[in-house]
Amino acid sequence: MISDSTRVALVTGANRGIGRAIARGLGKRGCHVYLGARDEGRGRAAERELRAEGLDVHFIRLDVTDEFSVTLAAKRIEEEVGRLDSLVNNAGIGGPPLPPSQTPIEQVRRTFETNVFGVITVTNTMMPLLRRSAAGRIVNVSSLLGSLRHAADRTDPTGVFPPGVFPAVLDYNTSKAALNAITVTYANELRDTGILVNAVSPGFVATDINDHRGVLTPEQGARIPVLLATLGDDGPTAAFLTEDGTPTGRRLEW
Ligand SMILES: NC(=O)c1ccc[n+]([C@@H]2O[C@H](COP(=O)([O-])OP(=O)(O)OC[C@H]3O[C@@H](n4cnc5c(N)ncnc54)[C@H](OP(=O)(O)O)[C@@H]3O)[C@@H](O)[C@H]2O)c1
Repeated sequence: MISDSTRVALVTGANRGIGRAIARGLGKRGCHVYLGARDEGRGRAAERELRAEGLDVHFIRLDVTDEFSVTLAAKRIEEEVGRLDSLVNNAGIGGPPLPPSQTPIEQVRRTFETNVFGVITVTNTMMPLLRRSAAGRIVNVSSLLGSLRHAADRTDPTGVFPPGVFPAVLDYNTSKAALNAITVTYANELRDTGILVNAVSPGFVATDINDHRGVLTPEQGARIPVLLATLGDDGPTAAFLTEDGTPTGRRLEW
């Protein structure tokens, strides 16, 4: 039985990269963590690794593009603990980076299935469980590349890209811009419920998605997502934060 004071968290795409680091970070904060992964073998391997560190982590099969698997995951969480306190929509894909005018429409559809429609599927399916939380938190793992303001100005306040340089990856950037809009839209629906909904750009993190060219470790990239997933009641909603080394992170422009 889970005590009322133990946070129950679900992280999607948590078998590797930033998602696994978020699951680890939440586990270290004493959460009961559901580690979402679409592949059982990869999910169980990550579960074993985090349990060996003494963390309360439980693999749950969840492909964000497969509604049935999302429904089954919600049913299991409902039966086992009856509520969800933190949902971290981390699973994401993108690329290969091609000039927008040469990007196949199939690539755009595929990316939107995961980064946009997958997030809506998971969020809506988990919402009844989140509404039962005393302090529900939704964290959407977005990207600086989804910011329309920074794209239009070609500015990167985090300093990864020099002034005047801003990657234009059609499927990825526009899916994260949609995710940002989704974040604000849910935040506004849920303002009176105590459920806080925020987006985060984890920074340029060395993972498979960028062939490990990133400069931050997954643990560093997980810091702000973990913070947002465990916000106090006085925390923000409809905010877009990134890592900048300060305790609460830096606000990005939408
Ligand atoms: N790395 C960066 O610099 C960076 C910067 C900004 C934002 N982000 C965002 O951070 C998030 C995590 O990325 P990452 O860098 O950790 O990438 P990653 O190492 O490629 O990990 C992606 C994760 O998402 C999972 N996934 C993909 N499609 C899925 C689906 N349909 N259902 C469930 N899980 C699925 C993958 O599972 P499999 O192992 O089964 O493929 C994997 O666990 C993404 O949303 C990404 O856009 C990353």
